[in-house]
Amino acid sequence: MSDQNKQKMQNLQSPKGMHDILPQEQAWWDKVRKELQYIADHYHFSRIETTLMERAEVFEKTLGETTDVVEKQMFVYKSRSGDRLALRPEATASIVRSYLQHGLAHLGQPLKLFYLGPMFRKEQPQAGRFRQFHQMGFEIIGGDDEPVYDAQIILAMVRLLERLKVKQITVRVNSIGCRICRPNYRKKLIEYYKNPNFKLCKDCRRRLRENPLRLLDCKNPTCQEYKPAAPISLDSLCVYCNKHLKDTLEFLDELKIPYQVDHQLVRGLDYYSRTVFEIFTEATAADGTKFDFALGGGGRYDYLIEMFGGRPAGAVGGALGVERVLEVMKALKSGSAPKEKATVFFIHIGDTAKKKSLALIESLREAGIPMQESLGKDSLGAQLRAANKEGSRLALIFGQKEAFEDAIIIRDLDNSVQETIPLKKVVTEVKKRLK
Ligand code: HAM
Repeated sequence: MSDQNKQKMQNLQSPKGMHDILPQEQAWWDKVRKELQYIADHYHFSRIETTLMERAEVFEKTLGETTDVVEKQMFVYKSRSGDRLALRPEATASIVRSYLQHGLAHLGQPLKLFYLGPMFRKEQPQAGRFRQFHQMGFEIIGGDDEPVYDAQIILAMVRLLERLKVKQITVRVNSIGCRICRPNYRKKLIEYYKNPNFKLCKDCRRRLRENPLRLLDCKNPTCQEYKPAAPISLDSLCVYCNKHLKDTLEFLDELKIPYQVDHQLVRGLDYYSRTVFEIFTEATAADGTKFDFALGGGGRYDYLIEMFGGRPAGAVGGALGVERVLEVMKALKSGSAPKEKATVFFIHIGDTAKKKSLALIESLREAGIPMQESLGKDSLGAQLRAANKEGSRLALIFGQKEAFEDAIIIRDLDNSVQETIPLKKVVTEVKKRLK
C-alpha cells in the first residue's frame, strides 16, 4: 500500500478509544435499552437527556479539581467566544445543573430520573476502559436524606443487571461521612500517610495536601501497599452517619441483595457524602475470564445542589457502564446475540408486480408483520440470496401471474416448501407460520 493510501486509511479510523456501534451489535443494545426502560417504568423513574457538552466548571467545581476525571481526563474546548466547554465525563453534575436551571424542584419531590447516553474521558484505552463509553443511571434528587432512597438506587441497578442475566452480582458499600465527621477522617489519613518511610508517588504527595481521601484510590503499586493498614472511615463516622449506613444495609438485607462493607471504598469523584458503593460480578466466563472492573458505582451527594447555589436537598444515584455490562453478558453467554425478530422477505418478479409491491408491503407492515425487501434488485436469485443473508424465515413471492390473480406465494426458507394463497389471506397465513 502506498504511503498516501496508508495515510488515507489512517484518517478512516475512529478516534482513539472511541467505537462505532455497528448494525450487528444493535440487538444487544436494544436488549439493554428495553430492560432499562422496564426497570425505570417499574420503579417510576422518568427519562432525562442533558446536553453532551457543559461549561467546564459544571464538572470542575463538583467532581473536584484534584480528581483524575477533572485533572487528566476531561475533553475541554475553548469556543470562539471564550467559553470553556467540556464533553461530559459523567451525567450527575449535568442533571443537577438541569434540575436547577429548569426549576425541577417544583415538581413532586423527590424526582426520580434515569438516563442512557455517551460519556467522554481521556483515559488510556484498555479492556473495559474507553474514551467514549455509555452509562445508564438512576438519580433520586430533592428528597430528604432517607436511607431508603440509597437502597432503592442499588435495588434498581441490581435488578437491571439480573434482568440482563449478569450473575453473581455483589455490591461493595461504604460511608465516607458528612461535613461534620469527614474532617476527622481526613486528619487521621494525613497522620497515617505522613509517615516519612512511605515512598508515595508524586500524585499522592500532592493528594496528601489537597485531597487525602484520594490517597486510597491510587493505582500505583507502591501506594497500594500502604492501603490495607490505613485508617478506615467507619471509626470516624458521627452517630448520624453511622445510623444512616446501618439503616441502608438493613434495607439491603431485607431485599436480600448481596453486599460487602468495604471501609476503604472512597470513589473517584468528590461530590459524594455518606453512602458510596460499587457493583461487581464474581462470575467467571466459559474461558475462565474473571471481570476485575466495576460494572457500576454511585452514592449519595447531598451537597451537590448547594454547590450550584441551590437550596440544600438530599440526592443519591448510581450509573452502570453499558460496554462493561455488555462484555459480561457476552462472555457469560447470557444467550447468543438476542434473537432478532423473525422477518418476512418480499420478492417481486416483473414490472406489474413491482408496481404493486410498495403498497402491498405497506399493508403487511401496517398489519404488524416485520417486512424486509430488496426492491432495487429484479432477479429472483439475487432477491433470494438477500433473503438468506438477512436470515429471514419466510419469503413472499409476488410475480406477474400472482399479480393478475390476486394471489401470492408463501415460501418457508428453512425447508423451501411453498404454496400459493389468495392475497386476502396473506396476513393470517404469515402470522400462523411465524408463531
Ligand atoms: P463512575 O464510577 O465514574 O461514576 O462511573 C460509573 C461506571 O461507568 C463505572 O463503574 C464503569 O462501569 C463505567 N465507566 C467509567 N469510566 C469508564 C470508561 N472510561 N470506559 C468504560 N466504562 C467506564 C459516575 O460516573 C457517577 N456519575 C455515578 C453516579 C450517578 N453517582 C451518583 N449518581
